[in-house]
Amino acid sequence: METALAKMPEQRQVFFLTILLLLWKSGSGATRYSMPEEKESGYLVANVAKDLGLRVGELATRGAQIHYKGNKELLQMDAETGNLFLKEKLDREALCGATEPCVLHFQVILENPVQFFQTELQLTDINDHSPEFPDREMLLKIPENAQPGTVFPLKAAQDSDIGSNAVQNYTVSPNIHFHVITHSRSDGRKYPELVLDRALDREEQPELTLILTALDGGAPPRSGTTIVHIEVVDINDNAPQFIQSLYEVQILENSPIDTLVVTVSARDLDSGIYGNVAYSLFQGDGLSQPFVIDEVTGEIRLSKELDFEGISHYNIEIAATDGGDLLGKCTVVIQVLDVNDNAPELMIRKLTVPVPENSAETVVAVFSVSDSDSGDNGRIVCSIQNNIPFLLKPTFENYYTLVTEGPLDRESRAEYNITITVWDLGTPRLTTQHTITVQVSDINDNAPAFTQTSYTLFVQENNSPALQIGTISATDSDSGSNAHITYSLLLPQDPQLALASLISINPDNGQLFVLRALDYESLQAFEFRVGATDQGSPALSSQTLVRVVVLDDNDNAPFVLYPMQNASAPCTELLPREAESGYLVTKVVAVDRDSGQNAWLSFQLLKATEPGLFSVWAHNGEVRTTRLLSERDVPKHRLLLLVKDNGEPQLSASVTLQVLLVNSFSQPYLSLPEVAQDPIQEDGEMLTLYLVIALASVSSLFLLSVLMFVGMRLCRRAREASLGVCSVPEGHFPGHLMDVSGTGTLSHSYQYDVCLSGDSRTGEFKFLKPMIPNVMVQEAGREVKENPPCRDSFVFS
Ligand SMILES: *[C@@H]1O[C@H](CO)[C@@H](O)[C@H](O)[C@H]1NC(C)=O
Ligand SMILES: *[C@@H]1O[C@H](CO)[C@@H](O)[C@H](O)[C@H]1NC(C)=O
Ligand SMILES: *[C@@H]1O[C@H](CO)[C@@H](O)[C@H](O)[C@H]1NC(C)=O
Repeated sequence: METALAKMPEQRQVFFLTILLLLWKSGSGATRYSMPEEKESGYLVANVAKDLGLRVGELATRGAQIHYKGNKELLQMDAETGNLFLKEKLDREALCGATEPCVLHFQVILENPVQFFQTELQLTDINDHSPEFPDREMLLKIPENAQPGTVFPLKAAQDSDIGSNAVQNYTVSPNIHFHVITHSRSDGRKYPELVLDRALDREEQPELTLILTALDGGAPPRSGTTIVHIEVVDINDNAPQFIQSLYEVQILENSPIDTLVVTVSARDLDSGIYGNVAYSLFQGDGLSQPFVIDEVTGEIRLSKELDFEGISHYNIEIAATDGGDLLGKCTVVIQVLDVNDNAPELMIRKLTVPVPENSAETVVAVFSVSDSDSGDNGRIVCSIQNNIPFLLKPTFENYYTLVTEGPLDRESRAEYNITITVWDLGTPRLTTQHTITVQVSDINDNAPAFTQTSYTLFVQENNSPALQIGTISATDSDSGSNAHITYSLLLPQDPQLALASLISINPDNGQLFVLRALDYESLQAFEFRVGATDQGSPALSSQTLVRVVVLDDNDNAPFVLYPMQNASAPCTELLPREAESGYLVTKVVAVDRDSGQNAWLSFQLLKATEPGLFSVWAHNGEVRTTRLLSERDVPKHRLLLLVKDNGEPQLSASVTLQVLLVNSFSQPYLSLPEVAQDPIQEDGEMLTLYLVIALASVSSLFLLSVLMFVGMRLCRRAREASLGVCSVPEGHFPGHLMDVSGTGTLSHSYQYDVCLSGDSRTGEFKFLKPMIPNVMVQEAGREVKENPPCRDSFVFS
């Protein structure tokens, strides 16, 4: 073969290549290239970009790939330039055998959007094989009496090349007895037959040697030769004859070895050794035949497994030879029947994972299916499970794309295992499954969500600085940085509160801290918003309201409002001696700046000059007498009260009260300055008091008589007016007056105005001012004794 090529003139070779490198569009829309076989790797086949009408660089940006059935990489594409190079030397005979034309189908796949281009590469034959005879020598026995014109079959030469490069002509070396004629078989192959031109004479020439030459049609032609030995045999007998000259049988491709294919049979009219027929394979298509023939019985059996996908058709010649080496020939055509023995094949061509969520219909995978069987055995159906949002779309010949049905949501499902099932329609049905895992990649489509719509946090006042008071937390159903949350304070623009210096948040975990000690009495609660932002692009955020409630601590002692404890002159209460038991002396008023239990005050009498005389109501601070007063009671009493709150720890304040017993309300004016004096000098004062009382009783006796006189005159005048004028009408009292004339069982609804120390109009304290003229009148007039309301009515001024 090298010699043949070497002989080729240079310019003819160039011409040859130019002719074969043709480009045309085939009927299926495929771009077809043509090139001769046996080109070295790196050979430039074509430029796909130009031929497919793609822009410069488009192949690269759209991830172009070239696929060949079976995933063998025969061609290599330069995505930049679009040049298609040969990856390895292509041998037409290996790739296509006898098939003509030899076309290799390639697919160029582009993405965004997915696009297919079918390209075909036709390999043209070059005459790289010479004809070859199966044997270097042949022996042919011809009876002496054979008539001119008798035809003798010869074995044909093989040539792997096809068409004109295959065997075209047989010639025989020049001689006077024979010539060769070339016949064509049904499949186009040529075989030689030797034709007798002149009768042979064994006595003259018992043996002949001819050279049979097979010539192919290449340019230049190649040739192969064999030596034919011809033996002229003496015996006048008959050659074996087959009952049928052509046997046509079919056999299943999966038939086991040793299966009987067919039994051929030949007859020989001779008897004895010349009538014994031996069968043999005369010549097959190739050198390795999957059949053997039983020499005696003529049974043709399988010696190798058949493969329909490889060779579907055998054309073998059987020879029957008798004892005289005379030969008869028949042809057996064996058709291999396809059996569904090849499962469909699935080839993933392109897999685009992960798939971003929220994107419209997206091509996830491109795959091709194939089945080597033919007919229904090779017809393929393809499906995926039907509970997933994906679709299979037939795209191009045996290509399918797996696309998303619509936008996916990673948060509801992040991964899909998609099983592609491919089955053929043969019997039995063969299936192939392939599972691809499709991950859905995250898009920042979820804002952080707080675990609570609002937060209420409690903090005890007087807390330590930088105290963690709680944790705000939000979750984000996205993943990665799209779910990475940062917390921040969104403080109100309130300059009075200055929350920025009060509150801080850990941006990473949402822990909230109070930066300094809080005081419940000045700030009971405050609100602000906390924001949570993820780190997606664009970032999403949300807000929540946080309310911080400051809890009270018992950090304020009760404060006594009345009687005022800081006064230079302590408040002195007056108590009329005739006061009945339960008489309200005064009411201690106290407040507590704390709240709740901490401000729930209770009053207690700690110490008194005369312990049994006064009692303090624990809950309202009212100081009342417990019995009637007697003349023996000392006039000045000093009470020490304790006001306690109910907090933990309990805080208290003490109150000192001065009570002065008076006979009438005029007395305090006289004795008021003395009240402030030292109570220890009580004995001396008692003496002075008795003197004063004696003096007062004399003068009051005088005054009484004068008043009685005046009263009698007034009452007489009143009787003339036929009405009791002494009574002061009860309902006439203004609203701020009140009746405390009860005998200690005061009505619950009585009105009471404390003399508040803060009132600047009355100085340090106020006291109950009696309506002195009324009292005098009543005491003077005996007849008005049944008008008690007159007696003890007070005006609170
Ligand atoms: C075959 O060869 C013979 C002898 O060279 C020639 O005469 C004949 O034309 C050839 N036939 C073909 C078909 O080439
Ligand atoms: C998909 O298959 C893999 C491997 O078998 C398995 O680990 C994974 O859990 C499967 N995923 C789903 C969503 O079924
Ligand atoms: C007593 O205390 C009250 C309340 O703090 C205050 O208003 C008042 O001026 C004080 N009086 C004297 C005399 O200090």
